[in-house]
Amino acid sequence: MKKKEIIENVIEEVKNLLKDDNSGHDFDHTYRVYKLALKIAKKEKVDNTFVISLISLLHDVDDYKLFKTENYANARTIMNKYNISIDRQNYIIEEISLISYKGDNITIPKSIEGKIVQDADRLEALGAIGICRAIQYGATKKNKLYDLNTKPATFLTEEEYKKKNSNTLNHFYEKLFKLKDLMNTQEGKKIALKRDAFMHKFINELLKEIKL
Ligand code: ADP
Ligand code: NI
Repeated sequence: MKKKEIIENVIEEVKNLLKDDNSGHDFDHTYRVYKLALKIAKKEKVDNTFVISLISLLHDVDDYKLFKTENYANARTIMNKYNISIDRQNYIIEEISLISYKGDNITIPKSIEGKIVQDADRLEALGAIGICRAIQYGATKKNKLYDLNTKPATFLTEEEYKKKNSNTLNHFYEKLFKLKDLMNTQEGKKIALKRDAFMHKFINELLKEIKL
């Protein structure tokens, strides 16, 4: 099977796996990460688009918040189906394991391909789409939109970050406003600064409206 055809098939597999999600990790999110990663790769003149495509398309299919799989079983099942070599599978899975945000315990993928996907995934938490996802996530978890009496926390461990379900406004200070300083690529940083500025504008306006 040609690489292009494999990617088209993987897209369908992932669409099927993520179709029931309503926590901000639905297929549309994965598809945007995939498209954005390819766009960043082009700007950064990185041409291993096959690996970038696989990392981005598979980055959420074993997320602990959605699936109870072990050893990245969903990603491996899909890659086995399309005869991706075990070496390449291991490499892709290691990069996926380093991509996700783990509180203040920051991990960075080793390869430029993984770094690009991490940037694309982080950009999804910023800007207009980032605001939408935060509100959607908070609503799904039945968290409060804001609570001016609770100060934003700093998370020290991955466990604390996973356990805590902050109100949505605090989440901007606990995670989202930090992301622009964590970007790996120049192009990612450029997009992040623009999206961060927009979020600040939005939150400033929101604070004016709610601090009566
Ligand atoms: P990742 O995409 O790295 O798996 P998360 O699952 O933590 O990250 O976040 C997915 C989306 O949900 C992001 O857009 C994030 O900003 C949002 N989110 C996560 N936790 C909260 C929260 N406590 N309140 C509001 N939004 C949240
Ligand atoms: Ni993601």
